[in-house]
Amino acid sequence: MFKKKIAEGTFMFSMNLDDILFESMWELPHGVTMNSYIVKGKDIAIIDGVIGWDGVPETLYKSLGEVDINSEDIKYLVVNHMEPDHSGWIENFRKIKTDFTLVTTAKGAEIVKAFYGEDIDIMIVKEGDSIDLGNGKTLTFHPVPNVHWPETMVTYETSTKILFTCDLFGAFGTMEEHHFDDEMTQEEVALFEQEGMRYFSNVMMTFVPLLKRAVAKTKTMDVAMVAPGHGPLYREHPEKIMNDYLGWADFANGQGNNEVTIIWGSMYGSTQKVAEYAKALLESKGIKVNFLQMPLTTESDVLTDVLRSAGVIIAAPTYEYKMFPPVAHIIDELGRKKMSGKNALYFGSFGWSAGAKKELEVILETHRMNWNFVDFIEFNGTPKEPDFKAVEQGVNALVESMQSKILK
Ligand SMILES: Cc1cc2nc3c(=O)[nH]c(=O)nc-3n(C[C@H](O)[C@H](O)[C@H](O)COP(=O)(O)O)c2cc1C
Ligand SMILES: [Fe+2]
Ligand SMILES: [Fe+2]
Repeated sequence: MFKKKIAEGTFMFSMNLDDILFESMWELPHGVTMNSYIVKGKDIAIIDGVIGWDGVPETLYKSLGEVDINSEDIKYLVVNHMEPDHSGWIENFRKIKTDFTLVTTAKGAEIVKAFYGEDIDIMIVKEGDSIDLGNGKTLTFHPVPNVHWPETMVTYETSTKILFTCDLFGAFGTMEEHHFDDEMTQEEVALFEQEGMRYFSNVMMTFVPLLKRAVAKTKTMDVAMVAPGHGPLYREHPEKIMNDYLGWADFANGQGNNEVTIIWGSMYGSTQKVAEYAKALLESKGIKVNFLQMPLTTESDVLTDVLRSAGVIIAAPTYEYKMFPPVAHIIDELGRKKMSGKNALYFGSFGWSAGAKKELEVILETHRMNWNFVDFIEFNGTPKEPDFKAVEQGVNALVESMQSKILK
């Protein structure tokens, strides 16, 4: 557990987690941090605690003691977000202290009761409500519903102008010595941009319209520091992560970098040959290619790379009258996450009657993905000269169609 004073009377506790599947499904090559915060006026508030993750009250006492806080003085637990990665510690906290007030939205209160029972003192807050902690510290509360759960809010401290955002403005990736944007090396900045997109695509993307509304609300506030529940804190350029989130929201609606992600699967190499041909063609045009074989690539990586790309190629053979299942599965996942508006090309081999294209169309329709396919090319057996020619034309059309979507 890393502890740091981040402003007058304000402390961050941060914990690195490696070797976990986030939400029990996302493989994180660079791990994730869990950040929680303490604001100390006369009264003390814990915001989005993860302290005592290990369930040992002694750890909590020790951690609080190190920043000169007596657990007896904690009056409020501010729960910006009820997901158990941030609220699960309440169960342990109650073992050592029961006289506290939990602060959350009306929707949050319903969820608190469902998870932790009726016997918690809850203060329900609405837009602009505040708590005066004394000694000049005041917290104000601002609901931002559906930052992937319906009860979410952000908390603002008026004297330091710190905005505590929990999942909003989060990123994956663990932190060692550097926690603030102005401390980061160039490599760390690049890492957190990549891991920010991973977090956005894996966790935040499904509700992009509401997410944009949440970001817009934070942009109207006078914010000196963004302090999220995962990843770095932003005090030099707090608006950077807000703008990044808006940019990634555009990526989720079809824009992207001058990159093509090829999602491919092949049992005996016929589709693979053409996928490699398409890759070489794109690279000869100076376009970066992410060449992702399924099922060997994690879903987390596919979502991240597709989010960043202005073009996508799906290359998969027919399998039992449908699409090669590992590729069909990831397209379905992209649809569930509402990755929409991407420019794309499909091709794949079949043995006798095809079927992959038909299933692809069903998946696209089911999730109303609104992808713009320049062509669907199904070829019989091993690829022959006309098949390569058709794919070459498809690749050229894809590159052409991408131009209006590429972020300059
Ligand atoms: C388990 C299995 C199921 C298949 N089902 C179909 C099918 O329903 N319709 C069809 O036209 N071909 C089917 N095929 C044939 C493949 O689509 C064909 O061999 C194709 O060339 C494989 O491409 P690949 O080398 O890229 O894996 C199937 C092949 C396998 C191994
Ligand atoms: Fe969450
Ligand atoms: Fe979270």
